[in-house]
Amino acid sequence: MTRAEGKLPVAILVPGDFNDHAVGRIDKAFKPVRIERADPALVTDEMRATVRGIASYAGISAAMIDALPNLEIIASFGVGYDSVDANYAAKRGVMVTNTPDVLTEEVADTAIGLLINTVRELYAAEKWLRDGDWVEKGNYRLSRLTLRGRSVGIFGMGRIGRAVARRIEAFGLPIAYHNRRKVEGLAYEYHATLKGLAEAVDTLICIAPGGASTEKAIDAAVLSALGSNGVFINIGRGSTVDEAALAGALKGGAIAAAGLDVFADEPNVPQALLDSPNASLLPHVGSASVHTRRAMADLCVDNLVAWFTDRRPLTPVPETINVKARS
Ligand code: NAP
Ligand code: 8YV
Repeated sequence: MTRAEGKLPVAILVPGDFNDHAVGRIDKAFKPVRIERADPALVTDEMRATVRGIASYAGISAAMIDALPNLEIIASFGVGYDSVDANYAAKRGVMVTNTPDVLTEEVADTAIGLLINTVRELYAAEKWLRDGDWVEKGNYRLSRLTLRGRSVGIFGMGRIGRAVARRIEAFGLPIAYHNRRKVEGLAYEYHATLKGLAEAVDTLICIAPGGASTEKAIDAAVLSALGSNGVFINIGRGSTVDEAALAGALKGGAIAAAGLDVFADEPNVPQALLDSPNASLLPHVGSASVHTRRAMADLCVDNLVAWFTDRRPLTPVPETINVKARS
């Protein structure tokens, strides 16, 4: 359900391509201002004078915030907002919002699909059928790996991590996790370090946020702790992984397989990962259904509407929780 809204005399900057439903609602509710990308060099004098909000998939840097002196709010499309300089926004009194919860179940579904595809080779098996190999060559080979007997570690036991864990529970597999803080009231085994978690399990699912605190946290040592039967799934952020170390671990047998939905330099995927037969690769589709992207678009725009009508956001990020609307 979306908020009832009339047209507000407020200029909202929309960089680059943006979700069609969100664009439609911004057109109706505000004065949209399109810009090719979130680049301070493209900001015109008129934008400087009038823009009070940004709706964006894209990263928003400190320089972009500085280029827009009347900016009050950045409504980021997505739950992860590592590409928005939220600490700088807070310093400048600019609110940042994201789109939590509405995508949680969809992303958890995708994580499970990616895990099963990685372990049971469903993409390769379907390709075998479609290429005519079933008729010409016989049955697809038995998958080397199985979920049976595995123990699963979740790096990032937040909203999505818990939704993934609920699904894994139904598979009858033991679950452990690593966060900076133990989650009170959660029965899964807690590990204070990521390496400790990797040593304890053979299947590691990363759904932690990107940013400085997780940069390349999945490195050669963590992968080697996972072991030669290890499966690594990343549906969090590509920046969390040392991709060269991962490609090396896949090639050298330090781990058995990986399933990746996210990469450090999207849409560019390192050749070494493209060349890995034991990697299952998806183009960042964790939340990418029409249903869920529409819910994310609504929450993104609802944040703008709430800010410019009630002067309060719906889902502020923690860094800007104390930012108040200017009078
Ligand atoms: P969330 O509820 O904030 O959960 C994040 C979890 O990660 C928290 O439990 C947090 O616990 C833990 N964490 C954060 N920094 C950490 C660190 N440095 N070391 C260890 N643990 C850390 O967020 P969410 O809604 O589950 O979303 C999680 C992330 O998923 C997003 O930020 C985004 O990057 C990614 N995502 C990807 C897709 C996709 O399409 N592939 C879609 C949606 C989201 P502590 O604070 O206690 O450490
Ligand atoms: C989206 C995501 O693909 O919410 C996130 O953090 O990574 C995904 O849901 C992305 O935000 C849309 O650009």
